This record gives sequence, structure tokens and C-alpha cells, in this order.
Amino acid sequence: MVAKVYTIASGKGGTGKTTTTVNLGTALALLGKKTVIIDADIGMANLGLLLGLEKSPVTLHEVLSGKADVSEAVYEGPGGVKVVPCGISLQGFQNSDPEKLQEVMARLIEGIDYMLIDAPAGISKDGVIPLAIADQVILVVNPELSSMADALKTKVLTEMLGGEIGGAILNRAGMERTDINIQKVADLLGVDVIDMVPEDANVRRSAAFKTPIVVKTPNSPAAIAFKRIAAYIAGIDFIEPEEDSVRANEGFSGRLARVLFGGK
Ligand SMILES: Nc1ncnc2c1ncn2[C@@H]1O[C@H](COP(=O)(O)OP(=O)(O)OP(=O)(O)O)[C@@H](O)[C@H]1O
Ligand SMILES: [Mg+2]
Repeated sequence: MVAKVYTIASGKGGTGKTTTTVNLGTALALLGKKTVIIDADIGMANLGLLLGLEKSPVTLHEVLSGKADVSEAVYEGPGGVKVVPCGISLQGFQNSDPEKLQEVMARLIEGIDYMLIDAPAGISKDGVIPLAIADQVILVVNPELSSMADALKTKVLTEMLGGEIGGAILNRAGMERTDINIQKVADLLGVDVIDMVPEDANVRRSAAFKTPIVVKTPNSPAAIAFKRIAAYIAGIDFIEPEEDSVRANEGFSGRLARVLFGGK
């Protein structure tokens, strides 16, 4: 199989790019796909932090500054996902040459099924390269107008660069009362909406445990959504498990009915 490269972008900061990259990457690896995830947010890196790799001696910074070979910056993550974290020092950022990114990607792609690139927010030089080199850019948006506006800008920029938008993910759906739903996102951005990921307190909880939510609480609402999207990307049928929270919320009478009368 020829490797497929996805860049996870947004425009606006804090929409859930890193969370999405880590969880889709882990879920794809758990599906048996050879997957590498890369933190290309070289100024404000935090993908390593979500996986407990923040103390890694060699990171993308060292590679982009010519101090280390790419192979030294690859670590093993949950489910066997390969992880290329990035350092967090200002010095490391200043010494990095973003132009080297393309060459680094070319090396990492050997023998891989999927590569997911965690892009920085904004439209800086280091942010533009991931938009241009991906097979498809996935826009992670929140149900807010500011997020839509910035995602639209990122879409236009991607197309100007000759890149392709693969679709959008509506993350943190239900986080606040808005009328922004999947249809509205599709209309506003003019892209397909792949799926939505609900607002789920387990996302922050799993971050505190430095473990992806798809591993920490695999049947929580957001984990199920991330697994469903990974299955879609991999072209595998997905069987929806019962949500933990559904069972937790069903109450005594619901549990009693289930025990007495059967069911899942
Ligand atoms: N579905 C969700 N439910 C609840 N919280 C979420 C969800 N997705 C992301 N978050 C929270 O939102 C915050 C931002 O997420 P994340 O760091 O993944 O965004 P980002 O787009 O990578 O941000 P940045 O632009 O700063 O790199 C985090 O605190 C994360 O735990
Ligand atoms: Mg991020």
C-alpha cells in the first residue's frame, strides 16, 4: 500500500488538532496499520506531552537543525504507533529549519501505511509546509464562528498551495449552545464533514494520564468517535460499541431492566 499523508490543521488554535492526531494515530495503529504521527507544531509543540514523551532527548528540533538523523527521533507510542515528538525550547525552534520538513517526511514514510502531521495553528511558514505536502488536509473545527472563519482561511490557503482538503471534523460538538451542526459546517466551509467528536471530559482526563483516550477510556463518547473516524480512514467497517456514559447514566431502573430482561 502506498502511504497516505494527512495533515491535521485548523487555523484557529486549541480546536483539538493534537488530540485528534494522537487518537487517530493510535486508533489506526490498533487496527494494525503502520502509522507515524509527527508534531510539526515546532514553535508550540505538545504532542509529546500527551504521550509522556516530553523528555525525549532527540526530537524533530534536533533533526531540523541538522544535529540528529530522523531515525533517532522516532519513538514507540501506544498500540505501536510511531511518534516523532518535537522539543519545546525556544532555542530548538530558532535553530530549526522548517524547509527540511519535506525531506524528513520523505524519510519517515518508508514502509508506512499512514502518516498524520499535527500542524500548528495560524499561517506561519512552518505551518504552510504541512498544508502543501499532505495528500489530504483534515480541518478540525469547533462549533464556533471564529473557528469556522479560520478554517475557511486555512482551506483557501491549502488550495492556493496546490494542496487538497480531505474534509472536516467537528470536534467538541455540544460544547456550547450553538446552531452550528454538521450541515452548517459543510455549508460554511464548502467541504465534506467526515464526522463529529462530542465534547467529552474524558479527553482532558486522559491527557492528564498521558494516554490517548482511545486507550484510556475506549468506550467513552469521544473515543468511540475517534475510533470510528480511524476505521473510516482505513476503510474498515466499524461496529459501534455501547457508550460507557450511556450505561453509567441509565440509572438503577435501567440497569435492573437490562439484568432482568436481557440486552447488552
Ligand atoms: N472532544 C473534546 N472534548 C473535550 N475537550 C477537548 C476535546 N478535544 C480537545 N479538547 C481539549 O481542548 C484543548 C485543546 O486541544 P488540543 O491541544 O488538541 O488542540 P490544538 O488544536 O492542538 O491546540 P493548539 O492550536 O494550541 O496546538 C485541550 O485541553 C483538550 O483536552
Ligand atoms: Mg496542538
